[in-house]
Amino acid sequence: MTPPGNERVPIQSEDDIVRARRIARTYAQELGIGLTNQTKLVTAVSELARNVYVHGGGGTMQIEIVSNRGNQGIRLTFEDHGPGIPDINLAMQDGYTTGNGLGLGLGGAKRLVHEFEIESWVGRGTRVTIVMWA
Ligand SMILES: Nc1ncnc2c1ncn2[C@@H]1O[C@H](COP(=O)(O)OP(=O)(O)OP(=O)(O)O)[C@@H](O)[C@H]1O
Ligand SMILES: [Mg+2]
Repeated sequence: MTPPGNERVPIQSEDDIVRARRIARTYAQELGIGLTNQTKLVTAVSELARNVYVHGGGGTMQIEIVSNRGNQGIRLTFEDHGPGIPDINLAMQDGYTTGNGLGLGLGGAKRLVHEFEIESWVGRGTRVTIVMWA
């Protein structure tokens, strides 16, 4: 049976990142998303949840089941109330980092999923929404 959808899970620790990955995998399996796309989705979740935790100071991942012309998908919204991103185009570029990472998280995540949207407000926070269709 498909899990209920419309859950919001906290991302406040390394353990929460692991949990977010597991929950995304479970939903993707239940929706009949293929193994390759399951793995792509979980990799994107890793990157985006880590950004919420590391750069955003913690936040949440919301899970929704969406449908379009009879096709189902999973929509995940990562939200934090951290410092925000002053230049989104720059942040999306591979190799750009303000931290100790490789700067591949955002660009990588975008390439791994079917839909990707990022919004950010300096001093208010960041929201990234992704969709993977079955
Ligand atoms: N949720 C966020 N809040 C504030 N800034 C963010 C957030 N997510 C990303 N950023 C900014 O965008 C930059 C690029 O993010 P990206 O995930 O691509 O790289 P990274 O996290 O620095 O390194 P990597 O993900 O490769 O370990 C970050 O260094 C940070 O400045
Ligand atoms: Mg990152």
